[in-house]
Amino acid sequence: MRVPAKLKLAAKDIAKVVLALSMFAIGVDQARAADPKPAETVKLQSLRQGTPLNQDNPPANHRQERDHPVGDRDFVQMPPLVPHTISGYQITKNFNKCMDCHAWQKTKESGATKISVTHFKTREGVELDSVSPRRYFCTQCHVPQSDAKPLVANTYERAKGMK
Ligand code: HEC
Ligand code: HEC
Repeated sequence: MRVPAKLKLAAKDIAKVVLALSMFAIGVDQARAADPKPAETVKLQSLRQGTPLNQDNPPANHRQERDHPVGDRDFVQMPPLVPHTISGYQITKNFNKCMDCHAWQKTKESGATKISVTHFKTREGVELDSVSPRRYFCTQCHVPQSDAKPLVANTYERAKGMK
């Protein structure tokens, strides 16, 4: 790269810059050493509430949401939330209850939404004629919808195109 003559630094100037930088670094170090504030203690709490791993907590008061109409999506690529109870729906290596209703051949009868074409693509991009292994375990991405109060406040907003 060509450097305009004006910007060329003489060896003396470079030495000055290096000196200034090292003075600054020393200053920062001293400021840090002078700061007596101890690091804030962070209190960690797990969902297990301290129960040892080889013991179980009693189940929380939990119930499945009732079936309700399909909800709006927050962004186009969002896995839609499940608008019905999935209590007892098994997904195992040999059986997938969700596909009883959501497979293309079943949706006419069940009235369920078809799994979309993205569910047939492998991670290498090959299109299969049945659900791809990477989309087989539905509840990995689709969870039942719940009208619960957020546990932690957040400023999440729906994507502009979906408002
Ligand atoms: C007995 C049939 C049946 C089974 C089994 C079933 N579903 Fe559904 N599902 C439906 C129907 C019907 C709808 C659509 C309701 C509507 O359009 O109002 C639906 C809707 C959905 C939707 C919302 C689609 C959208 O467009 O927003 C998702 C996601 C979904 N189901 C996931 C699942 C998953 C995951 C399982 C398995 C754990 C499952 N379903 C099992 C019948 C079923
Ligand atoms: C790895 C994540 C993932 C898994 C696993 C997965 N899905 Fe999806 N699903 C998505 C995403 C993301 C969308 C929305 C965008 C799209 O269609 O790809 C979607 C969309 C859907 C829709 C709506 C389709 C439409 O046309 O609007 C249904 C119904 C659905 N999934 C059902 C299922 C069922 C049933 C299974 C299990 C056999 C499953 N999904 C597994 C991520 C997943």
